[in-house]
Amino acid sequence: MTLTEFLDQVHLLRDHAAQHIDAVSTLEDWTTLRNRIVGRKSGRLSELLAILPTLPADDRRTAGAALNAVKLAIEEQLEQRRALLAKAAATAKSLDLTMPGRDPWCGAVHPVTLVIDEIVAIFREIGFTIALGPEAESDWYNFGALNFPPNHPAMDLHDTLYLEGGSLLRTHTSPVQVRTMQQYRPPIRVLAPGRVYRRDFFDATHAPAFEQIEGLAIDEGISFSDLKATLSYFARRFYGGATRTRFGPSFFPFTEPSAQMDVEVDLGDGRGKRWIEIMGTGLVHPAVIEAAGLDSERWSGWAFGMGPGRIAMSRYGLPDIRLLYDSDVRFLAQFAVC
Ligand code: PHE
Repeated sequence: MTLTEFLDQVHLLRDHAAQHIDAVSTLEDWTTLRNRIVGRKSGRLSELLAILPTLPADDRRTAGAALNAVKLAIEEQLEQRRALLAKAAATAKSLDLTMPGRDPWCGAVHPVTLVIDEIVAIFREIGFTIALGPEAESDWYNFGALNFPPNHPAMDLHDTLYLEGGSLLRTHTSPVQVRTMQQYRPPIRVLAPGRVYRRDFFDATHAPAFEQIEGLAIDEGISFSDLKATLSYFARRFYGGATRTRFGPSFFPFTEPSAQMDVEVDLGDGRGKRWIEIMGTGLVHPAVIEAAGLDSERWSGWAFGMGPGRIAMSRYGLPDIRLLYDSDVRFLAQFAVC
C-alpha cells in the first residue's frame, strides 16, 4: 500500500466514524460501534495500525501521525456521545410516569358578570331585551332629561368626572332609559347593564366605578302593581321560591312615586334572614317620558336600577366589595368551572 492509499483509508475512517457516532442513539449501540472502530482486536483502527509497518520506512512517520490524530479525534467524539446518551438515560429513569399531571388552567366568569348574566336571563324569559348606552355621557342624558333641576342637591350623590368637550362619566345607567325611548317605539321592555362612575371612596362597600343594571318597561296603562309584581317575581327567581319583598318610599327626580325594594335573605353569615335593599325603582316621571319625545298622557312605565356588585356580595357572602375589583386569582379561581 502506498502512503496516499493509506491516508485515504485513514480519512475515510475519520468520516465514517463521525457519521456513525452522531447517529447512535442508545448506550448499547454505542458500545458496539466503539468496538467496531477502536476495538483492540477487530476495530478498524487496529487494522490500519497493523498495516503501518508494511509501508515504506520513509512514509511511516507521516502515516503514523495522521492515524494518531484521527484516533484522538474519534475517541473524543465517542466520549462526547457517550456522555450525552448517559445523561438522557438517567433522565428517562427519573421520569415518573405515575405522577399526576398538572391541572390545566381554566377560565372563570367574574362573579359580577355571573350575576348580570343570571339577572338578564330571568328578565329575558319575560320579554326584556338588552339596551346599551355610552359611558361618556352628556349632561343632558345623565341629568337634564332625567328631570334633575339644575344644581339640584340630588346631583351631589352623583358627583363625577367631567371630560373635555362637556361630557361626563355617567353616574348611573338611567340615561339609557331616555336613549331607548328616543330610539324605539313603545311597548318597551329593556335591561341596560353597564359601568357607572361616582366620586365615592373605595372602601368595603363603595367603589368609584361599578356596574349597574337598569330596567325599563313602557306601555299603555302601566301601573305600580306591574312594577311590584314583576320585581317580586324577579326576587323569587333570583333568591329562591319563597323570598319576600317589601317596598319603601324613596326619592329619585326621574321616578314618581319612587321606591326602594328590599328582599328578605339569609346571607349565610350565621345571622339568619334579614332585609337588604337591592334596588331603587319607581314609575317613570312623566317629564322623562316627555323629554324623550313620547306622549306622557298615553305612555307610562316603571324603571329600576340595581348594582350587581352588591348583589354578588349578598349571593356569595363577600365581606368586601373590593374583592370584586382586585383581580386576585386566588379569589376569582373559586368561580372557575372546568
Ligand atoms: N339611577 C338610580 C341610581 O343610580 C337608580 C334608579 C333607576 C332608581 C331607575 C329608579 C329608577 O341610584
